[in-house]
Amino acid sequence: MFSSIKSTLSPFFTLFLLLLSLDLIVASHRQTTGSDNPEPECAGRWVHVRKLPSRFNLDLLTNCSDYPLYDDFCPYLANHGLGHKTHNRSRSWYRTDSFMLELIFHRRILEYPCLTSDPSTADAIFLPYYAGIDALRYLFVPDINSSAEHGLDLFRFLQSDSPHVWQRHAGHDHFLVMARAAWDFSRPLTNDPPIWGTSFLELPEFYNVTALTLESRAWPWQEHAIPYPTSFHPPNLQLLDSWIARVRRARRTILMVFAGGGGTSSTPNIRRSIRTECSNKTGISTSSSSIIIKPCEFIDCSNGVCEHDPIRYMRTMLQSSFCLQPPGDTPTRRSTFDGILAGCIPVFFEEQSAKAQFGWHLPEEQYGEFSVFILKEEVVFKGLSIIDVLTAIPKAEVRRMREKVIELIPRIMYRRHGSSLGLRAKKDAFDLAVEGTINRIKSRLTEDGLGVR
Ligand SMILES: *[C@@H]1O[C@H](CO)[C@@H](O)[C@H](O)[C@H]1NC(C)=O
Ligand SMILES: *[C@@H]1O[C@H](CO)[C@@H](O)[C@H](O)[C@H]1NC(C)=O
Ligand SMILES: *[C@@H]1O[C@H](CO)[C@@H](O)[C@H](O)[C@H]1NC(C)=O
Ligand SMILES: *[C@@H]1O[C@H](CO)[C@@H](O)[C@H](O)[C@H]1NC(C)=O
Ligand SMILES: *[C@@H]1O[C@H](CO)[C@@H](O)[C@H](O)[C@H]1NC(C)=O
Repeated sequence: MFSSIKSTLSPFFTLFLLLLSLDLIVASHRQTTGSDNPEPECAGRWVHVRKLPSRFNLDLLTNCSDYPLYDDFCPYLANHGLGHKTHNRSRSWYRTDSFMLELIFHRRILEYPCLTSDPSTADAIFLPYYAGIDALRYLFVPDINSSAEHGLDLFRFLQSDSPHVWQRHAGHDHFLVMARAAWDFSRPLTNDPPIWGTSFLELPEFYNVTALTLESRAWPWQEHAIPYPTSFHPPNLQLLDSWIARVRRARRTILMVFAGGGGTSSTPNIRRSIRTECSNKTGISTSSSSIIIKPCEFIDCSNGVCEHDPIRYMRTMLQSSFCLQPPGDTPTRRSTFDGILAGCIPVFFEEQSAKAQFGWHLPEEQYGEFSVFILKEEVVFKGLSIIDVLTAIPKAEVRRMREKVIELIPRIMYRRHGSSLGLRAKKDAFDLAVEGTINRIKSRLTEDGLGVR
């Protein structure tokens, strides 16, 4: 599995790097001087993309097959991090790896409408650093014993190259994407190896910088969580609309589905309870409207078999009313977003799974309208049946919730780069992340008495 396939990929690879560099060049020419641009809608939302040496981004991709303890991720670099299409004629579906969000984000920011080449007029400074990919060498060998150093090279660069850009707001206006859970970057500086994680978010050097992660800590300081990329990246409004129409039309003949792994150990936990309840309830019951209702479907995604293969679970999610999103190794799951995409109502078992996380994209005050919450302890220790809880929800209420979920689809997907203008008019996960970041930076600068420019 770990054999190097770089040689077979190298023509693609060279082309990929070439295309990305060309895009970068085009974009840096596109960055205009903020004050020259009369577009009023850009006021207060100018972004400057810092030019970083390629060792902070593109060079890191050349080692994609070289980590002895981490799978070869070269295939997922294709299409600027969207991965390969699921099949040749697919127009919106890709084999996307969520950890490639740094590439996806980088490519998307190049077409952000309010870029400025002048950092002194920018409201936010973006660092195109592939932090999660750079972290691999600390997390999975060879640099595992120096993981407290992750980020220091970048900091030194920012202090030596045009240091006034940092100094203007002491880094408070800088942001970057770190496409892993914040936990992976939160190893205390005082701990000796080999404890998991790098110390990027523990370094005082980066306290002021906003990091966009796939999951935040229980008490986040620098980071804010943004949606995991799913496999759906439509290039135009028509394809988005036809997907949404399909989601709305789908016959929901399954009450609930769980797509995931775990739950096989003997210690009580929520995944195990789900597995047990699902395997005991294989019987088919008929609802009043004579649609066959299967109470539960379990899609075994052990060993990462589903990760790059959306067909394995999307069809069943389209047929299901509810998608169970129990915590596993981490409280958050990409599956939450796959399910929303399918119009499948999420069922959460702890607040850390979403409500405490994705406030810019999933409005906190609306959780009761688009999701169900069942405390995991009630299920695991008190024998509460998930099927009973979900069956008790009136049909009209389920329909209302599903409609709310469908409304969220455009907000949580990352549309394809270079997409049509019609689609650009809708705010997607990227747009909301930039908007959230800029607002956060504004309020920080005001709070800290640093003054807004
Ligand atoms: C890639 O791996 C080689 C060998 O492990 C190492 O010498 C080199 O510095 C790595 N390159 C990057 C950009 O990390
Ligand atoms: C998909 O297209 C590629 C090149 O365009 C071709 O090599 C491959 O055979 C095609 N695959 C299928 C399943 O048609
Ligand atoms: C890290 O340090 C430990 C203990 O000092 C050592 O056994 C191990 O070989 C080191 N790992 C690497 C990759 O250098
Ligand atoms: C972070 O901001 C504080 C002021 O809010 C400042 O004192 C500190 O020096 C800044 N840190 C860095 C590394 O610039
Ligand atoms: C489910 O089946 C397991 C054995 O497979 C049994 O131990 C358990 O009591 C059953 N639970 C329910 C709620 O029927």
